[in-house]
Amino acid sequence: MATTLTLNGEGVSFDVDPETPLLWVIRETAGLTGTKFGCGAGLCGACTVHVDGSPVRSCTIALGDVQGASITTVEGASGDLAEAVRKAWIALDVVQCGYCQSGQIMAAIALLEQTPHPTDADIDDAMSGNICRCGTYQRIRAAIHLTARTIEG
Ligand code: FES
Ligand code: FES
Repeated sequence: MATTLTLNGEGVSFDVDPETPLLWVIRETAGLTGTKFGCGAGLCGACTVHVDGSPVRSCTIALGDVQGASITTVEGASGDLAEAVRKAWIALDVVQCGYCQSGQIMAAIALLEQTPHPTDADIDDAMSGNICRCGTYQRIRAAIHLTARTIEG
């Protein structure tokens, strides 16, 4: 039986094994390769997407578990907040190799939606599961603060 859901604002139906990890459906079936495979075990955050607005490790959730849900990937992240995050990332030259960054950005958007003016501790708490092998953590933190100031202004 096909699984129907909303992906980046469009209703879609996937006729694949409902046990398939959502990450692979996003990347292989839908062809949205902005969401990355890192560990495949929920440990690195590279695969973070939003499921009904909450950040989720798409490698650890099965397609069948998101029947009827609204999924947003980095390609579909839109609106003032998402744009402000993107601009802050560019302004502060956050990205090094880039591999972790779509997951970082999706986690940051989710944080700022819940906590518009996060403290350093809030940021560390929300982002600690998103690993960056290039060590861009300080720039990520600064970019989240910049986004908060931008949205406020
Ligand atoms: S690939 Fe999903 S958490 Fe690492
Ligand atoms: S920018 Fe390279 S892993 Fe984060």
